[in-house]
Amino acid sequence: MTITVPVCIGDLEPIARDILSRNAWDYYASGADDMLTLRENERAFSRIRIRPQVLRDVSAIDIRTSILGSRVASPFGVAPTAMQRMANVDGEEATARACASLRVPMILSSWATTSLEDMYQGIGESVRWFQLYVYKDRRVARRLVERAAAAGYKALAVTVDTPYLGRRRADIRNKFKLPSHLRLANFSDESKQHVGAGPNETQQDSGLATYVAEQVDPSLSWKDIAWLKTVSPLPVVVKGVLTAEDARLAVEAGVSGIVVSNHGGRQLDGVSATVEALSEVIAAVDGQVEVFLDGGIRRGSDIFKAIALGAKAVFVGRPILWGLAYKGEEGVKWVLRTLEDELKLCMTLAGRCGDGERRMYLSR
Ligand SMILES: Cc1cc2nc3c(=O)[nH]c(=O)nc-3n(C[C@H](O)[C@H](O)[C@H](O)COP(=O)(O)O)c2cc1C
Repeated sequence: MTITVPVCIGDLEPIARDILSRNAWDYYASGADDMLTLRENERAFSRIRIRPQVLRDVSAIDIRTSILGSRVASPFGVAPTAMQRMANVDGEEATARACASLRVPMILSSWATTSLEDMYQGIGESVRWFQLYVYKDRRVARRLVERAAAAGYKALAVTVDTPYLGRRRADIRNKFKLPSHLRLANFSDESKQHVGAGPNETQQDSGLATYVAEQVDPSLSWKDIAWLKTVSPLPVVVKGVLTAEDARLAVEAGVSGIVVSNHGGRQLDGVSATVEALSEVIAAVDGQVEVFLDGGIRRGSDIFKAIALGAKAVFVGRPILWGLAYKGEEGVKWVLRTLEDELKLCMTLAGRCGDGERRMYLSR
């Protein structure tokens, strides 16, 4: 059966696949190596059981919460995903408008095809974080931090799981390139704007893998997080922690938050699903910093489960790209509203009304 009108996020994926070019679909959809972790991110949620409570007066459900002190409409937001104009002509601007209208937080990628200043036009006070890749040339990172602070972003999410790019086989086969009419819009220097070889050059690998090997600093270490804190007026969140040991180091380095993430299964294949790694990180930080999660969120009950396990909020990656491909801004709104409706219904049926009563949501 061909689905044309989606009723859940799972329906949107084949619709997006039909719309997108092979180069874009494979870049968005794929994970590293055998994609074991990519699949586990979703499957691990399906193994967790909810413990419902009945007769709890669920006539008023409240999903509002706060992240790093900013009030937000929901405990979910948009994860940073690069190059959104491959999915839709308005790319990150469409995503930002959808998020602003529903008061959902959004993290903009360093590798956006809209500059961080342009993305911020006309979307009011809604909560935006900037995702930072630290380049070998530290002046680049420093300048991005200053610009993000000046443009009103509320936090920096520093990605710590990408010293080199994971081996994404589809991108290697396709010799992935950013289409020539698009640019990584946060950079003025030509060598940092293009991904993949120019029209007269040959290319053997994924253009992004080559780009990362040339530009991103693989020597980044915990002491650099301390350095970043000294140059950043914004709170620093590390994105890509999966273990208690690293969570403790993050707290020692003075971060304000941790995103438990395996980059949507795109970096090291074989690591835990994020929802499985969440509990050890929560236990290790012991309430000292806020803990977030991304990876495999495809329905409201996934959000419910992550919150029940102690995440302050979650972020959603690929479904936003499917929404963008489907109908641009309206498509992203559709994804966000679907997650919101499903989360509210899940809370209602589980007998949980809102923030502040997170205990014993799940059976083990
Ligand atoms: C197409 C794509 C591009 C991504 N680009 C970035 C990026 O630029 N920076 C980053 O920190 N993470 C990036 N990620 C990882 C996401 O932020 C997030 O960790 C992941 O998508 C969550 O998993 P999900 O897609 O299952 O929701 C990307 C993920 C995808 C799928």
